[in-house]
Amino acid sequence: MAQENAQGSSEAPTAPIPSSMDTELGKLVVDQRLATDDEVGKCLALQARSSNALTLADLLVREGVVTENQIGRVKRTLAASRSSQIPGYQIISKLGSGAMATVFKAKQLSLDRIVAIKVLPKKLSENADYVDRFYKEGKAAAKLNHPNIVQAIDVGEAGGYHYFVMEYVEGHTLGDDLESGKVYSEAEALDVIVQIGRALEHAHEHGFVHRDVKPKNIMMTRDGAAKLADMGLARAMADVEAAEAEAGKAYGTPYYISPEQIRGEVNIDFRADIYALGATLYHLVTGRVPFEGPTPAAVMHKHLKEPLVPPDHINTSLSAGLGEVVEVMMAKDRNRRYGSTKDMLMDLEAVAAGQPPPMARKQFDANLLSRLADVEAEAPAAEAQSSAGHDAARNLNLLLVGLGVGLAVSVLLNLLLVVLLVAK
Ligand SMILES: Nc1ncnc2c1ncn2[C@@H]1O[C@H](COP(=O)(O)OP(=O)(O)OP(=O)(O)O)[C@@H](O)[C@H]1O
Ligand SMILES: [Mg+2]
Repeated sequence: MAQENAQGSSEAPTAPIPSSMDTELGKLVVDQRLATDDEVGKCLALQARSSNALTLADLLVREGVVTENQIGRVKRTLAASRSSQIPGYQIISKLGSGAMATVFKAKQLSLDRIVAIKVLPKKLSENADYVDRFYKEGKAAAKLNHPNIVQAIDVGEAGGYHYFVMEYVEGHTLGDDLESGKVYSEAEALDVIVQIGRALEHAHEHGFVHRDVKPKNIMMTRDGAAKLADMGLARAMADVEAAEAEAGKAYGTPYYISPEQIRGEVNIDFRADIYALGATLYHLVTGRVPFEGPTPAAVMHKHLKEPLVPPDHINTSLSAGLGEVVEVMMAKDRNRRYGSTKDMLMDLEAVAAGQPPPMARKQFDANLLSRLADVEAEAPAAEAQSSAGHDAARNLNLLLVGLGVGLAVSVLLNLLLVVLLVAK
């Protein structure tokens, strides 16, 4: 009946015909699950019978189907979608916004599925270099396919705005959890970090470096799957430029960025992601970021210079194995981190199974030998000596107890340690 009238039946020549605005609003109300098709149909029928110029929105409120507030939100979404029309997609609602862009929930009309669309702000859309890299990376990211990576679907431009279409993830980010004060148990954190480690392994095997691994870019679905978001987006901007653009946002300061990205190095590789994942793991299990500071510059300075307080010193319920893994993941010199994402995963999985991390122990050996060699060669300042001595003691202990390295090497190292401590 509503349809008859909508098409202008001769029985009610004066009845208002639903405007295109009403048609879109009706669809949106149903898509947002505020009303059923039936309820909207009834209101459209009422509208057709009514001689007053009532809109569908008025009737939905009058009939108690939706509240004034709900319809207000729907109207605002509609207005936003009209001003940023993306052909082939119908914007449903705003999901959130970060330092750079706004993300909308939308329907991809051709496949009748829900997707998320990240729309770049005008300022970035006008930067030709940025847009060029955004397209290249976006298209390449769409070729990746992994259950723990938010699937990239499309990139495009409409009305002067550039956008990135991706899989819609129903859930929340780890950033949301941390903002609400949640501290993860070791087992829970490792479960998430192993999943993201696998996502990174897949990306790294395909030549991708994420460059912006952080709690806000890790989404959790209701059934506990973790998904890494924004793959291929961070590359479009210089790291420090991106970090600085985030300054001032509560979780936007560069808490997870690797030292080499801070130094503006050009050949950033998978080890930058290992560092950021280590910083994320650190935050999850301690409830604190690894380095705090009043300004982004102060935080970045600490990433470069300040020794890390091991997470198992902050939260003493954590296993020593977890502490060792985080220390290797977050080594300031990337040559002292894991040599591959596979090695890192092997350790994360070992610790999750209650075992010591085999690769971290090997790395400790290598780090210890090279550090002792450095110490011998450089005769460092007193402060550095003391910290090297402390680290050396911990490492040496691990070396001897954990691995049972040959007696001759142990004796040699002990001798070197004694020299070091006496020289202090
Ligand atoms: N694929 C997605 N599915 C569902 N929600 C998403 C998706 N991608 C992002 N979001 C939501 O949109 C919000 C904004 O994302 P966006 O990537 O723009 O910023 P961010 O990662 O939170 O922060 P920043 O800009 O500081 O990196 C996210 O916090 C998340 O809640
Ligand atoms: Mg993001």
